[in-house]
Amino acid sequence: MTSDEIRERYLSFFESRDHKRLPSASLVPAEHDPSVLLTTAGMHPLKPYFQGREKPPHHRLTSCQKCFRTPDIDQIGLTTRHLTCFEMLGNFSIGDYFKADAARFAWELSLEGFGFNPDDIWVTVFEGDEELGLGPDQEAIDIWLEIGVPRERIVLCPRSENFWQAGPTGPCGPCSELYLDRGLDFGKEDDLPGGDNERFLEYWNLVFMQFEQNPVGTLTPLPAPSIDTGLGLNRMALIQQGVTSIFETDQFVPLIQLGEQLSGKTYDSGDVAVDRALRILADHTRGMSFLIADGVVPSNEDRGYVLRRLMRRAIVQGRRIGIEPVFLPKYAQVVRETMGKAYPELIEQADTVDMWLTNEEESFNRTLEQGMKMLEDVIETAKRTGAEGIGADEAFRLHDTYGFPFDLTLELAAERGVGVDERGFEDLMEEQRTRARASAGREGGEDAREQLRVFASSAGEPTKFTGYETTEQATAVASVAVEDGRVLAKLVESPFYATGGGQVHDGGVIECEDGNCSAKVVDVVRLGDDQALVLEPLTGELKDGERVWARVDRRARRATECNHTATHLLHAALRERLGTHVHQAGSYVGPDKLRFDFTHGSPLSAEDRAWVEDRVNAMVLENQPVRALTTTLDEAKSLGAMALFGEKYGDVVRMVEVGDGGFSRELCGGTHVRSTAEIGVFKITQETSSAANVRRIEAITGPLGVELLRRHDRELTAAAVALRTQPDTVAEAAETAVRKRREAEKALEKGAGAADTSVGEVVEIGGVKAVFEIREVPNPKALPDLADKLRGQLGDPAVVVLGAPGEGRASLLVSATPGAVAAGVKAGAIVKVAAAVVGGGGGGRDNMAQAGGKDPEKLPDALAAARAEIERALAGSGA
Ligand code: ALA
Repeated sequence: MTSDEIRERYLSFFESRDHKRLPSASLVPAEHDPSVLLTTAGMHPLKPYFQGREKPPHHRLTSCQKCFRTPDIDQIGLTTRHLTCFEMLGNFSIGDYFKADAARFAWELSLEGFGFNPDDIWVTVFEGDEELGLGPDQEAIDIWLEIGVPRERIVLCPRSENFWQAGPTGPCGPCSELYLDRGLDFGKEDDLPGGDNERFLEYWNLVFMQFEQNPVGTLTPLPAPSIDTGLGLNRMALIQQGVTSIFETDQFVPLIQLGEQLSGKTYDSGDVAVDRALRILADHTRGMSFLIADGVVPSNEDRGYVLRRLMRRAIVQGRRIGIEPVFLPKYAQVVRETMGKAYPELIEQADTVDMWLTNEEESFNRTLEQGMKMLEDVIETAKRTGAEGIGADEAFRLHDTYGFPFDLTLELAAERGVGVDERGFEDLMEEQRTRARASAGREGGEDAREQLRVFASSAGEPTKFTGYETTEQATAVASVAVEDGRVLAKLVESPFYATGGGQVHDGGVIECEDGNCSAKVVDVVRLGDDQALVLEPLTGELKDGERVWARVDRRARRATECNHTATHLLHAALRERLGTHVHQAGSYVGPDKLRFDFTHGSPLSAEDRAWVEDRVNAMVLENQPVRALTTTLDEAKSLGAMALFGEKYGDVVRMVEVGDGGFSRELCGGTHVRSTAEIGVFKITQETSSAANVRRIEAITGPLGVELLRRHDRELTAAAVALRTQPDTVAEAAETAVRKRREAEKALEKGAGAADTSVGEVVEIGGVKAVFEIREVPNPKALPDLADKLRGQLGDPAVVVLGAPGEGRASLLVSATPGAVAAGVKAGAIVKVAAAVVGGGGGGRDNMAQAGGKDPEKLPDALAAARAEIERALAGSGA
C-alpha cells in the first residue's frame, strides 16, 4: 500500500462515516495561536472549535495534516523512525461522538482498512494521575473489553505516555493508544506497549479531549467532550510496506537515492556516518520545502531559525559526504515529484522554494569557508602555543558570531589532533539560552485578553458584526462589566471593526437612545467569531439591555480603508515587479499609514520603488471597483486569490478583489474603499528591512498623502527663497552652493598665508640659500605646504625657516633641501634650538622638522637663533 493509498483509505473511511474532509492547514499556525511556532498535530488548526470559540464547519471532521516537530531535529538520522516533517491522519469529533465510537472506528479501520490481525493489536489506557486529580480511565478499559480486546492486551500507562496536550496550555485529555505487536523477532516475551522496545509499534493515538488547561496544571471541562486522533502516515507506510525504516518507504526512497547518486556513496552499506547524512538530507530537504512553501523564510528568529537550522544541517551533511554545491534545489525537485500531488503548494511555490534554497546554500557556503579559515588559525595558534586545545570562548565565537556549526569545529579539530572545551562551550550556550529566555518574557496582554474572552462568552451569543454595511447601528447592549478598572461591553450588533488581519480597530462612540449616557470606544477586541469593546465613559452610565446608537468614527475608518485597499494594490504590484516569491509577512493598516512586510532578500532599487508606486497610482487613477465576495476556499484558490499563510480553513471565505480580480484578489476580512479612486494618491515613505529576508514598506494615502506632498512643496519653496532661486532649480543651486563652500573651506585650510607664496628676503649662508619668515596661517598644518612652495623657488641647496604665531602658541618649521642636508644643515637640530626660544620643544628628520612653543612674540628671536645655528653648522663647510 503506497502512502497515497494509506491517506486515501483513511480519509474516505471517515468520510463515509459522516466526517467532513478538510484540507491540510498551513504549517504556520493561524494568528490566534501564540502557544506554538509550527503546527505539530492535526488538531492544532481545530483548537478554536474544541474550545467552543468558533463554530466548526461540521461536528465530525477528518484530515491529513502536515506537521512539524522541532524537538526532533537532533534525533534525525540517528534513528530509523524520527522525522521533523510528517503527515498525521486524524478523525475529530467536536462535541459529537466520544470514547466508544472513537475506539470502534479505530478498531474497524485497523482490521478492515489496514488488514491487521486482531490478535496483534494491543492498547494502552490512562492509569490516572494524582496531581491532575484523575483516576484510571475505567470507561476506556470497558469499551476495549466490549470490542473484544482481552484484558491482558490492555495496558495502563502513566500521564507521561497517555495524557495528551497540544502545548503547555489549551485543550487536552487522557488518551488511548493502539500498538501493533510485530512479534518475537523484534523483541522479548515480556516487552510491553509504551515501553522502549521495537516489538510494539505505536500507530494510532486516540485523545479523549475533555479539558482546557489554563493555567498550567488546572483542568476545566471543555464545552463538550470531543475526540482528537492521530495516526502517523509515515509509520503506517513502514508497516504496510514491510520495511524496518521510514527511510525505506515510498516517500523517502527517491530522496535517499538522489543522495546516493549525488555523493557516489551507498546507503545501508555499513558506514554509519553516510547513512546518517543521507537520512538527514532526506528528512530536512522535505521539511525545508514544506516550510518555505508555507511562507517561512530563513532568518535567526522563530520559524525562520528552524528553517535555517534545517538548511545548514543539510548543507554540512551534504559537504561531508562529498556532494557538490548547490544541491538543495535538486532535492526540492524530488520532494515535489513525490509530494506535490497531495500538496499542490509545493508546485505552486516551486520558484520561491528554489530561490531561498539557492540563496541560503550559497551564503552558508561562504560562511563555512570563512569559518574554516578562522578555525585553521585557532588550531594553528593552539598547536604553536602548546595550549590544551580550542577554548570554549573561541568555539562559541565561531558558532555565535560567524554561524560556524559546533559539531564541525569538533570534527575538524579532532582531525588535526586538537581538543575542544566542550563543557565550557555547553555552559556558554546555556548562558545564552538563559539570556534569551529572560528577554522573551511572557506574551504580554494574554491575561487581559483571556479576561475579555471570559466576559464575552458569558454574555451570550456572539456579536453580529455589521460594519461592512454600515458605520452607524441602532442596537442594544448585551452586557457591561467593570473589570480591573476597565469598562467592558458587548453589543448585540456592532458596526465596529475589531483589530485583525493587520487592520486596527475602529474608534467611535456609543450613545444611549434616551440621550442619558455615552461612552468612547477605545478598543475592539476580536475573539474568534465574537468581539468585545473596551469603553471610556463620557456621560452617565451604560446598562445591560440598554438601547443604543453605535457610531463609528467615519473619518478614521475611511482613511484606514484607503490604506487597506492600497496595501492589496501594493502587494500585487510588488509581486508583479519582484516575483511571486513575495509574500505578505505582516502588516499594519491604520488611519495614519500602512506598513507592509514581505519576503524578499534585498533592498528595492530606486527604480523598483518608483515602478511600484507608479503601478499602484495607475490603479488608483483607473477608478476600479473594489468588491468583497463570499465564496468557498476552493473556489477562491482556483481563482488565484492570495491567502495569508496560516489562514484557517472554513468553508466560506471572504475574498476582496479589485476590478475584474486579475490584478489583485486576496482573502481578507478587512474593510475597503468602494473604488480605488477614493485612495486619491499613494506615496511610499520608506523602505527598510524588518528581519532577515523580510523587507518593510511604509506608505500613506489620501489626505495624508496630499499633506505630505504639500509639506514637501513648502520646504522646497523655502529652500528656493533661501538660495535665491526658483523651486525647479533648487537642486542645482544647492549643489553650486555646496561646491563653493567646499572650495572656500579648502582654501582656508591651506591658509591665508598660502596665497602669498612669494619668497621674501633670501640670504646666503655658506653657499646655501636661506629664507627666514614669519607668516600668519590659520593652522600650523598649512606650514609644510607653504615651505615646499618657497623651497621650490630657491633651488638646491636651500633651507626655509618659518614661524607662525597663533592664539597663545608659536609654530616653527625648518625645511632643508638634500644639498643643504649634505652640507650639514640638520632641520631637526635647528628647530630644536629655535623652539627652545619660544618656550617649547620639538624635532624631526634632517630634511624637515616642526615644533611648537607658547611665546609667539618671541618668534623673531627664535628665527634669529635658527639663523645662528645654521651659520654655525655651515661654518667652515665652504659650500
Ligand atoms: N493530537 C494527538 C497526537 O498528536 C492525536 O498524538
